[in-house]
Amino acid sequence: MSTVANTPPAPPADRLPVTVPQLAERKRRGEPLVMVTAYDFPSGRAAEEAGVDIVLVGDSGAMTVLGYPSTVEVSVEEMLVLCKAVRRAVRTPLLVADLPFGSYEASDSLAVQTAQRFVKEGGAQAVKLEGGRLGAARARAIVEAGVPVMGHVGLTPQTANALGGYRAQGRTARRALEVAEEAFALQEAGCFAVVLEAVPAPVSAEIATRLTVPTIGIGAGPATSGQVLVFHDLLGINDGHLPRFVKRYAHLHEEMVAGLRAYAAEVRSGQFPTADHTYSIDAAELRAFQELLGGLASGSP
Ligand code: KIV
Repeated sequence: MSTVANTPPAPPADRLPVTVPQLAERKRRGEPLVMVTAYDFPSGRAAEEAGVDIVLVGDSGAMTVLGYPSTVEVSVEEMLVLCKAVRRAVRTPLLVADLPFGSYEASDSLAVQTAQRFVKEGGAQAVKLEGGRLGAARARAIVEAGVPVMGHVGLTPQTANALGGYRAQGRTARRALEVAEEAFALQEAGCFAVVLEAVPAPVSAEIATRLTVPTIGIGAGPATSGQVLVFHDLLGINDGHLPRFVKRYAHLHEEMVAGLRAYAAEVRSGQFPTADHTYSIDAAELRAFQELLGGLASGSP
């Protein structure tokens, strides 16, 4: 058992909870929006303390924390566990939950039902779904049911197979137009923001300046209303291949391995634990205990 208290940090008095209407206002004022993913209590807490604007419980958690080979395997139940953990930590940022693959495409009623579970059970304030015409239709149904929706176009990992893999989108005029049309369809359906993933910067700039809702870029250049990165990518928690759009701001995997190696070495050499890490007992109580133990068999630790 850890003795570290699981208390969410108190939000600073000068920071009010971020709301959906505020995001549009921030776009109008040209104030960049900061979004990051989180998947558990500590990552949610770090995002809260760092003062980000939007926390996304991304289905990237399938890969970053659950070890699946892609995002498509993760279930609603698994995403809800992650979302609830983040909810316990996050007070100020807007909390958005990804609708996982297969949880919204089949019908409007399935989409509404799943979105409402993320709000009622997961504590999310909005949901995100991957776009296209079908996505826009489902987004409309969810918005009409009272749940704010963020759209996602460009590289949409849930349908990466149909896109020919994890590759940039909108690198031909025709495909760029499709991406733009999908973004407009999502805005038209009532989405309060649209994520543009892996889209050439000049294409995303054209889209971002034409949409009235905020755009959040990931590998889409600097012209979007905000940026999003995956928590584990930007902090270097998982090693391995990274898309070119990721910038690493820390190297925590190396730090974690170094810390565990030092711990293992100290346990093996007897350097840990010392008296500083153990509890004492009154000498008389110890003698009494040893007498009480009496004939119990002796052995070695
Ligand atoms: O799941 C995720 O992390 C995402 C972001 C890349 C936007 O959808």
